[in-house]
Amino acid sequence: MSTDSPIAPLLTESQIAERVAALGRAISADYGDEELVLICVLKGSFVFAADLVRRITSPLRVEFFGVKSYGAETSSSGVVQITLDLAKPIDGRHVLIVEDIVDTGLTLSYLSEQLRARGPASLKVCALLHKPARMQRAVHIDYLGFTIEDVFVIGYGLDHAERHRNLPYIGVLSP
Ligand code: IMP
Ligand code: MG
Repeated sequence: MSTDSPIAPLLTESQIAERVAALGRAISADYGDEELVLICVLKGSFVFAADLVRRITSPLRVEFFGVKSYGAETSSSGVVQITLDLAKPIDGRHVLIVEDIVDTGLTLSYLSEQLRARGPASLKVCALLHKPARMQRAVHIDYLGFTIEDVFVIGYGLDHAERHRNLPYIGVLSP
């Protein structure tokens, strides 16, 4: 029994792995021996962050921050809700936000504001995907995996109505 919509592959496992390794090298080169606090933005970034940390050679701590901007819709509501706050203060720390995807930019700009107010020594952003077509808020991405068209993607941590996060590659959900 299957009522699932077809999934068209967009980025393969090996394409993703290669890009994640390159991002890890760039981050390691920039931070060197400086310790960073890598903030995994839940839920979508958990797979990306798990792979990325293993490609970073700089000393790091991992923290989780939960935000929710969508219901079961495929477009941002514009309302960002904190579902899990950081367990530790980040003042004086070098913070790297790890996001799965930047779409309208609303989530990331809200997140950056929230974290900047807590006085980190530095604040940078690493995003796996960017959909510039739907940008509403200009946000700076320091480390970017891929720029993609305006399509709704799933897999590698990304969901549609909480499903498909376990897909090992990134695909486009056909309506
Ligand atoms: P923004 O606030 O519109 O930039 O949306 C950011 C958040 O929406 C991301 O962290 C994702 O969780 C989710 N999102 C945006 N586009 C997609 C998509 O194509 N697939 C799955 N989730 C998405
Ligand atoms: Mg999501």
